[in-house]
Amino acid sequence: MTSERKTSAPATIRRGDPLPAHLLDDGERMSRAELRDVQLRRLRATLRHAYDNVELYRKKFDEAAVLPEDCRSLEDLARFPFTTKADLRDTYPFGMFAVPMADVRRIHASSGTTGRPTVVGYTENDLSMWADVVARSIRAAGGRPGHKVHISYGYGLFTGGLGAHYGAERAGCTVIPASGGMTARQVQIIQDFKPEIIMVTPSYMLTLLDEFERQGVDPRSTSLQVGIFGAEPWTEEMRREIEERTDIHAVDIYGLSEVIGPGVAQECVETKDGLHVWEDHFYPEVVDPVTGDVLPEGEGGELVFTSLTKEALPIIRYRTRDLTRLLPGTARPAFRRIEKITGRCDDMIILRGVNVFPSQIEEIVLRTPGVAPHFQIQLSRRERMDHMTVRVEARPGMVPDQREAAARTIVQRIKDGVGVSVEVVIVEPDTLERSLGKLRRVKDLREA
Ligand code: DLL
Repeated sequence: MTSERKTSAPATIRRGDPLPAHLLDDGERMSRAELRDVQLRRLRATLRHAYDNVELYRKKFDEAAVLPEDCRSLEDLARFPFTTKADLRDTYPFGMFAVPMADVRRIHASSGTTGRPTVVGYTENDLSMWADVVARSIRAAGGRPGHKVHISYGYGLFTGGLGAHYGAERAGCTVIPASGGMTARQVQIIQDFKPEIIMVTPSYMLTLLDEFERQGVDPRSTSLQVGIFGAEPWTEEMRREIEERTDIHAVDIYGLSEVIGPGVAQECVETKDGLHVWEDHFYPEVVDPVTGDVLPEGEGGELVFTSLTKEALPIIRYRTRDLTRLLPGTARPAFRRIEKITGRCDDMIILRGVNVFPSQIEEIVLRTPGVAPHFQIQLSRRERMDHMTVRVEARPGMVPDQREAAARTIVQRIKDGVGVSVEVVIVEPDTLERSLGKLRRVKDLREA
């Protein structure tokens, strides 16, 4: 990474540069011990707020025979019941709101794959806290006041666009609210407006990169210095692909609408070693996805969040379905990190008894020379057996022999690395569907 030549920015972002102390906010200045005190105080208030104002929580706590006051230490949280997406669906649309509707300033919703959307609400204070955590995330990524931030997360009910937007403004940046789509125009705008930062899903970043190349523009020559990528799983191989093609820092941002939206956790540009959870607002646990038991730090399992300061939608022990593990803090020592999330419980494909995550396939495809970083997984049934086809795009100019060799390599690497036999089909360049936001990697044809 050489970013010295990009001097138009108020500050040039280099890997290894820690955040100047004056840019840390009050939350980031706390010691771990101070943070834990704050967490406990906020946790007890949140449990009380939820119990008093949300029927579903009152019922669940009563059934589990726990009262908010029973939480005397952070560890006591484990005695409280979980909340799931089904709880939000069952109380659709506003049944889990804990404040009068007149105090709700904004509503977002996530569509999900089936049935009713999940609806979330924010008070004025919630929106302000959200802007603060996104601003903190942008600073951790290297963003500074005066930087221009091009936002290609979708604006609308999805939390990505507006969440990033108000956070970037709070950070003192200049926002370019591009939203998703109209890819050719976005490329033009990036060239003309010269943003230092882009916030976008990693899959849509690939779509933008293809468009740069189509317009004959070298993506390494743009003003961009940092990409803040999230809303979907992406691998270290994807980071390498994007950083090499663009000469920017690619860092990870995590969040979910039920907890707030983007800005729950953020990777620091100086270390790029997983995401610091903004624990003064969101308390993380990792549990065994089957038994629900809390796992010790360092063990892999399902990420669970409890909000600590939210008013409109306090969320208690929310089962994210995302798989990761908790690690001690590094660049922000008081905050624990989560390891980069590469899968969800419900992403997992069980193929003839073997667990397969799309991210494992991504790693292998992106490590295979000659093919493009675009692929799709198709599941079908053949002779009553589940069958997986990985469709991978050739790069332009790839001759048949090279395609065959690449297909053989991918088949073998999946067999060796994942332990399943799959079929690999190399398709023509530019034929697989491109992402305009969150990418659907898996096409399941088994039910059809
Ligand atoms: O995707 C919020 C967001 C917007 C995060 C923009 C980051 C950037 P939902 O639509 O509710 O919210 O989807 C949340 O997306 O449970 C994860 O499965 C996945 N996800 C989000 N960020 C990451 C990430 C937004 N960095 C769901 N890595 C979550 C892996 C992610 N998965």
